[in-house]
Amino acid sequence: MASAPGIAKQTAGQGARAANPLDLIDVDHVRFYVGNAKQAAFFYAHCFGFQIEQVADLTTGSRDAAHYLLTQGNIRFVMTSGLSAEHPASMEVALYGDGVKDVAFTVFDAEKAFEQAVRNGAQVAYEPRTMRDETGTVTAAGIRTYGRVVHSFVSRSGAYDLTNVKRGGPFMPRYRKVEGLNVNDYNRRHACGLKFVDHLVGNVEMGKMNHWVAFYENVLEFSMFKHFDDKDISTEYSALMSKVMASGNGLIKMPINEPAPGKRKSQVEEYLDWHQNTPGVQHLALRTDDELSSITELRGRGVDFLTIPPAYYERVWDRVNTTLQKHDKPPVKEDHEKIRDLGILVDADDEGYLLQLFTKPLQDRPTLFFEIICRRGSQSFGKGNFKALFEALELEQSKRGNL
Ligand code: FE2
Repeated sequence: MASAPGIAKQTAGQGARAANPLDLIDVDHVRFYVGNAKQAAFFYAHCFGFQIEQVADLTTGSRDAAHYLLTQGNIRFVMTSGLSAEHPASMEVALYGDGVKDVAFTVFDAEKAFEQAVRNGAQVAYEPRTMRDETGTVTAAGIRTYGRVVHSFVSRSGAYDLTNVKRGGPFMPRYRKVEGLNVNDYNRRHACGLKFVDHLVGNVEMGKMNHWVAFYENVLEFSMFKHFDDKDISTEYSALMSKVMASGNGLIKMPINEPAPGKRKSQVEEYLDWHQNTPGVQHLALRTDDELSSITELRGRGVDFLTIPPAYYERVWDRVNTTLQKHDKPPVKEDHEKIRDLGILVDADDEGYLLQLFTKPLQDRPTLFFEIICRRGSQSFGKGNFKALFEALELEQSKRGNL
């Protein structure tokens, strides 16, 4: 497979476009295929504080599907439902339930990014297409990644430029602004504080992790950021392995999990069992600058988080403080009692610490969930929490009869 010959090329001067078409500017959006986009939009707005910002549906001339753009900080989710049985979203929802279909990247030129990815060995999901009106254009093209997931490359011009979209400008042709929703006013006054997608995790089949690691290296020119084996991530009963892939500029981190042999079923196998034995996105980690206030707000809205065993808090401070002292890093400044009362997980490494907490599945199937994460120096993923966390997850799995 091709390496990345263009990656170190100099740009031609100030204002020059990226030398490498696969330079990613941002996560343009994450598209979910859901059974009922209108209701899903309200769920994510009420529970997680997203603004229901724009909609494309029958009222805007979108005859085949309804799309809701949800925003918070620099996070953009699109909820898409088919309006007929033949629409791909309807067919996929029947197979997999609600979940992530597309992790879309903003690039300078979607066509060039697509061509480069295909030259690097990508399979085509859909060919480049441009939507335009008198105010600007949006060009998108898609490649396939693991299982049912695709990566779209999106380039924007005029009114549809991403900086404009971030300021509330139009997302794509055929979207209209949603006006007068009480939940949007409420969310402006009671912020959940979610800023951007910190990482996005895929579950693949046993033995396939390295295949997808090579895909991200060769096709999207990512590199490996961290690696955890089954000794890091195991309990008495189950295990998994994980490698974290990162884009060239570190913008997006995409850990890839595969199950490892254990006495009982691992969480990755449970996911695959309920996802038509098809790889997909397991969780999105959403970044906050203030874990305690975000979790307080989210709990107040009824978000269902994993329950952390009380014994966790008997050991956590010893573990975390020892690590921070060893590396001469400042101690955890957040109130320890509040961390325990809110059931938040803490971990530390040589760069600092992080606070994190995981929701229960966001739909009836035990598939997609969110992580709410705050980093204070640590760039890791909570390795020290894996054991405590997976024991909590196994308790939930056994309640579902899936362990
Ligand atoms: Fe995570």
